[in-house]
Amino acid sequence: MRTRRSILPSVSTETQDLAAKDEAISSPRKKQKRTPKIDKPDHHKNMAIVEKINQDQENINPNISREALDKLADAKSIFRRSADNTIDFYVGRQKERDTIQEFINNIQSKNKNGSLYIAGCPGCGKTALMAQILEKSKIVHTFLNCMTVEEPRQIFSKLVAKVFGKETTLKDSFECFKSNIDASKKPILLVLDEIDQLLTANGDILYKLFEIPFSSNNKISIIGIANSLDLTDRFLPRLKLKGLEPKILHFQSYKINEISDILKKRLEFVKDRIKVQDIALELCSRKVVAIGDVRKGLDFILQAIEKAEIKGKESVEVTVAHMVQVLNNSIQPNSSVFKIKSLNIQCKCVLVAFYRLQNKHITVENVLKEYEIVCKQIGTSGLSRSEFLDICSTLETTGIWSFQTKGSQFQKRIQLHVSTDDIKVACQKEKILESLFLNE
Ligand SMILES: Nc1ncnc2c1ncn2[C@@H]1O[C@H](COP(=O)(O)OP(=O)(O)O)[C@@H](O)[C@H]1O
Ligand SMILES: [Mg+2]
Repeated sequence: MRTRRSILPSVSTETQDLAAKDEAISSPRKKQKRTPKIDKPDHHKNMAIVEKINQDQENINPNISREALDKLADAKSIFRRSADNTIDFYVGRQKERDTIQEFINNIQSKNKNGSLYIAGCPGCGKTALMAQILEKSKIVHTFLNCMTVEEPRQIFSKLVAKVFGKETTLKDSFECFKSNIDASKKPILLVLDEIDQLLTANGDILYKLFEIPFSSNNKISIIGIANSLDLTDRFLPRLKLKGLEPKILHFQSYKINEISDILKKRLEFVKDRIKVQDIALELCSRKVVAIGDVRKGLDFILQAIEKAEIKGKESVEVTVAHMVQVLNNSIQPNSSVFKIKSLNIQCKCVLVAFYRLQNKHITVENVLKEYEIVCKQIGTSGLSRSEFLDICSTLETTGIWSFQTKGSQFQKRIQLHVSTDDIKVACQKEKILESLFLNE
């Protein structure tokens, strides 16, 4: 049910609630409606509040109707992150859409079980595309964001509850889940978003999950979604050995024209209220490509609209000047943390190894040795020496560190360009690495 009149296409109730909440917090219009609560005999303070409200009301152009203001606020809300589940604005990703659709068709028409692993950087449209496909599909499915599972081993009891509406103990949950899916006559599709949350030191939960579609007599298929491309490759080599590895679908990062098309599609919906100059849009898209996360683009546009907004005016035009202001302010103090967070898990393991050394003259060889210890502690097989060097050069390309001296590759000294604190902040919440930070 919609809570307020809107010019936007349909969005989920949850999204609307969030948007309404957001609106209630940030909209000055809503604040004006509130009568100041005078419960303390602080006369001066109360007078100041009343004066401020009168002033705000004077600033509103009396010729503009409440409806017009509502419409501008609605138009703006299209760029709010809280409205970002809306699937009506999805553009592009045709190849990825076809691959997912074909996977689903195979389950439905050919009765073929399967597993698919979708990977790509944060904000590159994985969840939104999946949501759009599922909404149109008739397949019986369960969508679960694994962030909502407190501990990986609780996944099976959560699935028993969500898929079959039953309760089970933690101990019996895997067997219970298996017996229920064996008994199910219809194909079931499990879509597990942020599946990397289920990664344990030995990967046992993910093994069990990805083995299910190929074990016994069931009709279950799995789609796992996560940011890191190498999750199944590096951490689940046993699946590969058994020939049970999922099909991999990699969402490449967006190119500048794709980002621009995504933003234009939203702007098209609100063109009567909001205009963004072409060059401003291009500047914004360029910045977003560098970051890789479309949500940042939505943020930039919203901030630029707010800069361009003139009180009482029912439409806005965002110019290059507005956008430049926003983009200049967007150099975040924690951009290194952001950069590290968006690296794959192997890069993070190598950085954690560097972090643990904590001394000034660290060579590639030192980091390799510490990295091998890190891998043992978290129970993974680790990279070969040449693969390790590849990761080192990735970290150089991304500007996280550089190599100081010439000499053999392993003897080169490393100069870090981010702080060790940034490494800690960015890596300590990563499930597989968090145990390494426990005693700090
Ligand atoms: N191709 C696209 N078209 C329209 N919006 C997109 C597209 N890709 C991403 N977005 C928007 O970017 C935001 C983040 O996308 P999301 O699917 O949550 O990213 P991911 O799951 O890859 O981290 C969402 O608001 C989504 O609507
Ligand atoms: Mg997602």
